[in-house]
Amino acid sequence: MRLAVVGSGYVGLVAGACFADLGHNVILVDNDQQKLTALKNAEVPIHEQFLTELLERHRGTRLSFSDDLQGAVRVSAAVFIAVGTPPTGTGDADLSYVESVAREISGAINGHGYKLVVEKSTVPVYTSDWVRRIILRNHADADAFDVASNPEFLREGTAVIDFLYPDRIVVGADSERAAAVLREIYAPLTDGSYYKRADAIPGPDRAVIPAPIIVTSTKSAELIKHASNAFLAMKISFINAVASICESVGASVQQVTQGIGTDSRIGPRFLNPGIGYGGSCFPKDLMAFRSVARECGYDFRLLDEVIRINEEQRHRFLRKVRSALWTLRGKRLAVLGLAFKGGTDDIRESPAILLIQSLLKEGSRIVAYDPAAMERAREIFGNSIDYAEGPYEAADQADALLLLTEWEEFANLDLLRLHGCLQYPIVIDGRNLYHPETMAEHGFTYYSVGRAPAVSEKLSAAANPSAGNRK
Ligand code: UDX
Ligand code: UDX
Repeated sequence: MRLAVVGSGYVGLVAGACFADLGHNVILVDNDQQKLTALKNAEVPIHEQFLTELLERHRGTRLSFSDDLQGAVRVSAAVFIAVGTPPTGTGDADLSYVESVAREISGAINGHGYKLVVEKSTVPVYTSDWVRRIILRNHADADAFDVASNPEFLREGTAVIDFLYPDRIVVGADSERAAAVLREIYAPLTDGSYYKRADAIPGPDRAVIPAPIIVTSTKSAELIKHASNAFLAMKISFINAVASICESVGASVQQVTQGIGTDSRIGPRFLNPGIGYGGSCFPKDLMAFRSVARECGYDFRLLDEVIRINEEQRHRFLRKVRSALWTLRGKRLAVLGLAFKGGTDDIRESPAILLIQSLLKEGSRIVAYDPAAMERAREIFGNSIDYAEGPYEAADQADALLLLTEWEEFANLDLLRLHGCLQYPIVIDGRNLYHPETMAEHGFTYYSVGRAPAVSEKLSAAANPSAGNRK
């Protein structure tokens, strides 16, 4: 099928490349000339596993790039809207990009066969109604098009795999004609034929069960996306709150998580405590969902609390840094991790970035390293922080090491070497990447989230000489 995908950000670019891999002819449309030129020149603007491979595979054949939105709509059976929906000052989703794209689409509808306009961006419930209204207002024939919602659940860092091996595909359509188009587009995933191909992108380590397709009304589909993200964020804030209690009473959140996560009704995923969630989705979608609820007359105070706990989590971490180092002015801090999570170069709403900003305000000197996000961080911090070549270079002569992003590389450091680099062997881990006992055995003073601090035997004996005498 011929498809147009408008917006070549995270969602649009990944969706476009994956649709091409499913066998469709895709035109990726963007109004950012610089981005288009880069894409045409084989540059990949985001760090995402398998994306470069897919773009290489289909660029110039099943995948092309264009700034001509109407031209792309005219030749396509379905048009996916994947432009950004950033938050406004009041927390609502800014739908002006979606609106302007809808307006432009309307000029290319009549006389080119039936077209399905699909919302792929995360949008508040009722947006499909508005998109339809805007297209009609601009003189498109009512029976020449439908508007559907097909929310995307991909996570950054695993976006291609999430797209091609989804838990489910949600199709929000108010007519069978609209649903049929989306069923056909996703058929290779729902009938399993994609997974039998020798050149299929390899999936996660589990037997591949073709994705179920869930067909709902457009409004339900719009709500499914907001409710999913809100629920996942709630899970994270819940465990962060439990972690705080663990710290007060000396329990281990790791053990508590194991105990509750094995209940199949709860499940173990998204129960990792840390310095709070960030990224381009959870923070903005929670605020947008809260606004939508308010507009509908429901005061969704549970979401206020989820957001509050998330912010508090960063303050708690800062307090931990202060309590480990006493004063922060002039201290040299090694920071491992700038991205909002591992596996991506995205720093939007990254708790690591927000924490560095607070530490700088308190007069600390920061030496940072991230395997992918250094360039993006440089755009924010310029020369106000130092950038290291690797984790050990960052740690060199530092007063303490802060672990702020859950990169696998950071969970496998050579602890002996690290100990030798640091001026003081203090590690403050915002992502629980190490076992406290292991860190103590290696001579570190180690703080993490929801677990008692671990102090190296040497230090604990020095701090409490009588403990040593008792032996
Ligand atoms: C997406 C979704 O849009 C958002 O709703 C979801 O919650 C997260 O993922 P993302 O892909 O990260 O956002 O957005 P962004 O990186 O801002 O990309 C949007 C693209 O659309 C950009 O390349 C931009 O140049 C393009 N764009 C924007 C247009 O082509 N036309 C416009 O009118 C506006
Ligand atoms: C999220 C949703 O998971 C995805 O379905 C949706 O399409 C877009 O938003 P993403 O923002 O890419 O995806 O990342 P995700 O893996 O969900 O992590 C979000 C944040 O939560 C990160 O900052 C991460 O570090 C944090 N997190 C995640 C935790 O703190 N603990 C966890 O257990 C899981």
